[in-house]
Amino acid sequence: MSALDAAWAALHAAAERAKARRISDLFAAEPQRLERLTLEAAGLRLDLSKQPWSLPDLETALDLARTADLEAARGRLFAGAVVNASEGRPALHPALRAAPGADFKADGVPVSGEVEATRAKIAAFAGKVRSGELTGATGKPFRAIVHIGIGGSDLGPRLVWEALKPLDPQIELRFAANVDPAELAQALTGLDPAETLVVTVSKTFTTLETLTNAETARAWLRATLGQEGADRHLVAVSAAPDRAQAFGVPADQVFAFWDWVGGRYSLWSAVGLSCAVALGFEAFDGLLAGARAMDDHFQAAPLAANAPVLLALAHVFNNNGLGRHLRAVVPYAQRLRLFAPFLQQLEMESNGKRVDAQGRPVAHATAASVFGDAGTNGQHAFFQLLHQGTDIIPIDIVAVRQASEGDPAAQTKLLANAVAQAEALLVGRPEAEVREELQAKGMGAAQIATLAPQRTFPGDRPSSFLLLDRLDPASLGALIALYEHKTFVEGVLWGINSFDQWGVELGKSLATRVLGELEGGAAGAHDPSTAALIAALR
Ligand code: F6P
Repeated sequence: MSALDAAWAALHAAAERAKARRISDLFAAEPQRLERLTLEAAGLRLDLSKQPWSLPDLETALDLARTADLEAARGRLFAGAVVNASEGRPALHPALRAAPGADFKADGVPVSGEVEATRAKIAAFAGKVRSGELTGATGKPFRAIVHIGIGGSDLGPRLVWEALKPLDPQIELRFAANVDPAELAQALTGLDPAETLVVTVSKTFTTLETLTNAETARAWLRATLGQEGADRHLVAVSAAPDRAQAFGVPADQVFAFWDWVGGRYSLWSAVGLSCAVALGFEAFDGLLAGARAMDDHFQAAPLAANAPVLLALAHVFNNNGLGRHLRAVVPYAQRLRLFAPFLQQLEMESNGKRVDAQGRPVAHATAASVFGDAGTNGQHAFFQLLHQGTDIIPIDIVAVRQASEGDPAAQTKLLANAVAQAEALLVGRPEAEVREELQAKGMGAAQIATLAPQRTFPGDRPSSFLLLDRLDPASLGALIALYEHKTFVEGVLWGINSFDQWGVELGKSLATRVLGELEGGAAGAHDPSTAALIAALR
């Protein structure tokens, strides 16, 4: 048996033993537990003590990380090695948020100079738009941005805007990702083309949804401003700047990024331009600084006190050890309600893989499915299942100490719910206690026998608790980078390439074929169900 197989076997054995005990009993048995499993990283507080592992289990999990050569893999990531082997590229997102003067190299080629030059171009552009120095074709200042992009070219900026937007923004930022024409129609409604910038973001500049929406938005601009006028309102962000120019975006309004930036890790590049303009460059810079602080922590902290590493190991203990292949993510902050969709792409596109980086079937389950919504809203939707469903679904709870706005008393109620839900999931409510209560109410034995089990909470349902002091650019940057690195760590343990996404290709090419047929082309060979659907839609 290889050392790695032995380390996995030890993790499985530890998880097996964990099934025979309750998490809550570990607090008494392990006086150091809370202290050992509570970490501070880049201003975030992470409590992993309500996870099913004991402290010796944590050591077993850390042993797995060491045996998988996590530290060497982390070194390769930051060194700009070709960690995305199937596409022959590094994945060097930390270079995008490095401090001025850094010296990152992507596969040996220095990149920090270009990164800083682009950052300066973003800062200058944001400054000119916000000050009114740069105006639209009719001389009016820009009051709105329509950000067009999908997947990694959408989810990060959308999350950031929702999290940080002022109550009464100087510049309104709207998004259109879906090729469903309803989304762009809604985004454009009520906007004045003379005051609107259209920012098209696409790493490849070939994405069907994005190009379709970009064409529609350009036509919308041209209808009022004419072709030349409309050009002043077009901005593009792409790793294929020549394609953006061929589309018609003026060269000085094209912002580049690079092949070594993965789409779902691209927020920190010019992909964040719309946010830099609508929030101000200072906010964007703060976001970078927060992510950088998490990069520093991830690189410097010992594995045993490393937040991305321990969060990954807690998730792996549940997913691989205990067979819990779903995870809920619930931010108790309405402004973070898009965190779950963001993580769906980050984790499921990165690690939803069935073969390893050498093309062999994986030996272990890979990415858990992630779902969630803001708390307390989720409590009135899927929490019933979390508390009493047949599956045990671990949950990550994110809470923010200080409200961004509004009634402080309501914020206290929000925080009380976050804490209480984690407690309720952990301790549950024993049937004996329920029976006693029902008896005290004078209920008869037959009714108690029926009702008590329904009102019992088994508890022992794991959670992680992440606390931010306030929701500001730095804490948001650190939070996102924490999950980026957590996702990377999991990929290393599973031996997969977290930075490619071949699984999205087949659907894209079949859609092109079906589109041809829906537009009147000759019918192709399909299974009977698909052929019938195409016939019904033609
Ligand atoms: O969903 C597949 C994908 O390639 C994502 O990885 C990417 O973020 C998204 O499409 C958008 O791609 P692009 O930025 O090239 O338009």
